[in-house]
Amino acid sequence: MENTDYKVQVFTGIRPSGGLTIANAIGAVNPIVKIQEEEEVGNTMVFVADLHALTDAEPKETQSNIVDVVKDYISLGLDVNRNRIFVQSFLTQEIAELNLYLSRLVTIAELMRVPTLKEKIKKGQNESNASALLAMYPIMMASDILLQKSEYVPVGEDQVAHIEITRVLAQKFNKKYGNVFPLPKVLSLGKPVRIKSLTGNGKMSKTDPSGAILLDDPIEISLNKVKRAQSAFAKEKSESLDSLVLIGEFVGNEKEREEILSIMKRHYDGENVMGELKGVISTGLERFLKEFQEKKASLKEEDILKKVKIDGDIARENAKETLRDVRKAMGLEYF
Ligand code: AMP
Ligand code: TRP
Repeated sequence: MENTDYKVQVFTGIRPSGGLTIANAIGAVNPIVKIQEEEEVGNTMVFVADLHALTDAEPKETQSNIVDVVKDYISLGLDVNRNRIFVQSFLTQEIAELNLYLSRLVTIAELMRVPTLKEKIKKGQNESNASALLAMYPIMMASDILLQKSEYVPVGEDQVAHIEITRVLAQKFNKKYGNVFPLPKVLSLGKPVRIKSLTGNGKMSKTDPSGAILLDDPIEISLNKVKRAQSAFAKEKSESLDSLVLIGEFVGNEKEREEILSIMKRHYDGENVMGELKGVISTGLERFLKEFQEKKASLKEEDILKKVKIDGDIARENAKETLRDVRKAMGLEYF
């Protein structure tokens, strides 16, 4: 039986539900980009979570975004030679099988307590109109991660609860059947990030474009959103201001990052400096978006398709090998 030698250490995914926001870049992509250069980091793998998009969209609505998300990853600095990139639906059967085994280890009540589900329920979904897939979402996420036996998962703060469920499922499985899965940890640069919407309403998300910096948008639109963004009165601390600073630090060069630091010092000393802060952030953002969009325009669809097919085979081999371990541990291999 062939053994894959692509042992995954860092693993993450993004749903193809529309253009990426700068929050996706900061929360999920940047940690992998930053660590990919470090010698001691093992193999990294990212994927387009097209099956997860099925929770709130039809496949034909998201299919055309799949290649786009891969282009986004690469244009944000993911090194194609260092990273494996695949599309989740390459592994539909393997995911479905692990889902089946893991679903036995979690109760309906536990699933109903997941914060992301509770949030959807607040937004109008309820037991009579929400699909079972929505509630099963965290199990599918655990299957993605555990099939690759990944140790680290870079995600934003909104996904931390899902990683916790993945750990619980892995722990329960290991306890019951023997040590098959490593317990994955959240990977972030500092504490997990939550970028607020620039309008101040909730988190920045593709689903609320008015407060989001969409990487593909005409740059002028994004710069205008920064100009009008919520911040804070002199001396005051706010989540909106923290998010702006995080964006500024992400897009800024060293000089701009230093400027942001000294502007923030003056802010806490009581000076009115929000206009100045937004100016520095805009300079960095304009350069960043320009470089991103140029790089993205240079990428060819045929190269992307070739890459995801080759890497999809590797991910599938890993998944099959994990399932063999799982079945053996559970005693499911009678024949
Ligand atoms: P999604 O676009 O919901 O598929 O999210 C993809 C990744 O981006 C996940 O790791 C999220 O945690 C991260 N992410 C999405 N929105 C934000 C946000 N506002 N702040 C930080 N990370 C985020
Ligand atoms: N649930 C994540 C999101 O909505 C996407 C995702 C699916 C993911 N499976 C994953 C992220 C596995 C990391 C690892 O953003």
